Amino acid sequence: MTNEFQPTEYILQSVNTGKTFNDEGWTLDAPGEEAPSLVRAIYKKKQLAVKDNSFGLFRFADWLPINHVLEGSSAPVTYKSEGLAKYLGLDNLYITFSGYWPEKGVMMRTCSFKETEAYSVGGRLDVNEGKVLVVASAGNTARAFARVCSDNNIPLLLCVPEDNIDALWFDEPINDNVKLVVTRSGSDYFDAIHLSNLACELDGFITEGGAKNVARRDGMGTTVLSAVTTIGRIPDYYFQAVGSGTGAIAAWEANLRFFEDGRFGENKMKLMVSQNHPFLPIHDAWKADSRAMLPLDDDEARRQVEEIDAKVLSNRRPPYSINGGLFDAMKDAGGDVLQANNQEAAAAATLFQETEGNDIHPAASVAVATLIQAVKAGTVKKEDCIMLNITGGGENRFKSEKEVIYLKPSHVFDIEPPLETVKEVLSKLF
Ligand SMILES: Cc1ncc(COP(=O)(O)O)c(C=O)c1O
Repeated sequence: MTNEFQPTEYILQSVNTGKTFNDEGWTLDAPGEEAPSLVRAIYKKKQLAVKDNSFGLFRFADWLPINHVLEGSSAPVTYKSEGLAKYLGLDNLYITFSGYWPEKGVMMRTCSFKETEAYSVGGRLDVNEGKVLVVASAGNTARAFARVCSDNNIPLLLCVPEDNIDALWFDEPINDNVKLVVTRSGSDYFDAIHLSNLACELDGFITEGGAKNVARRDGMGTTVLSAVTTIGRIPDYYFQAVGSGTGAIAAWEANLRFFEDGRFGENKMKLMVSQNHPFLPIHDAWKADSRAMLPLDDDEARRQVEEIDAKVLSNRRPPYSINGGLFDAMKDAGGDVLQANNQEAAAAATLFQETEGNDIHPAASVAVATLIQAVKAGTVKKEDCIMLNITGGGENRFKSEKEVIYLKPSHVFDIEPPLETVKEVLSKLF
């Protein structure tokens, strides 16, 4: 990898109006527009030139909105399945794997595709501005950002519910530029988001932006860049378990970019996204053909989330309705929202371990379970070209090979603390 990296050339575009504008560094919304819309990156290079493996994730830098590259990344890997494909009777099943699997050449130390977004977001951030990046998460996202920001000296404030800090395991200590604050036990992801919003009201802190951040989406889109450039064509189907659906939006956007590239055909992959029963807000809205999410009682949602094994799929306010969001992506590309319960997902994980040889995350198991259902139902055919996005895996193996340590919180906040308290605590941390 060379240090003489030239920033990627791109402009931004409002999906709603088509208007284009420059990235002012951290532009998350279309300037002057009232209707909520995602903005999209339009890259100058229309044909993707994939760099060698030493670049890690940044081998896809042509289609990442970044001004510098970071150390220590790994790109998702795509390979043609033999074991699972044979079991399911599929001729063209391709697995895109994010996680830890040294034999396949993928070494994500936090074991999920959330690492792709963390590296890409870090590469977009202007480090000279000295701002503290603020990320709220209940799981894999927090771990990925902590590792990447620690290794690359990016100041980071992580807001996590205290009950979820088990997710913050690492093989090596996290540096002091990363601080973890939590909302006390009994709080949930939304309380952590609330805390992060308060932090972002203070000088010197900036929100990461979630699905609105083009770097986050295009980072996740590298799963599709890996698949299409390995397979040599755009697949017919894309399988992924979703909580926010950001990965599927990113997949659709990457697919559209390949049209302009021109070398991989004009297919639109059908987006076969999945949720963990009984927590099904995206499923329910899609089946009702509704752009708006359906009303969901908070207590009922919490109860459902307690039940599901794939906790990372528990987003209650996904970017589904927004212009350019998941509803638009699925209407344009076609596809369906599928569901699998805990038992089906666990059985799928065992099958994956037996047929492919690695452990997978409960969320990825949901995707595998719904692929099995789709094969049984005849929705996908023997000869169809299928991309199965294994969004996380190798965690059991990683933990069995390394000694893991846990990041400790610097402060425990009450649920909904006053802004003054947040200000006082954070001013001492950074
Ligand atoms: C392993 C894994 N798979 C899938 C998802 C869902 O991702 P998305 O944000 O695309 O809905 C997550 C989210 O945290 C995840 O950690």
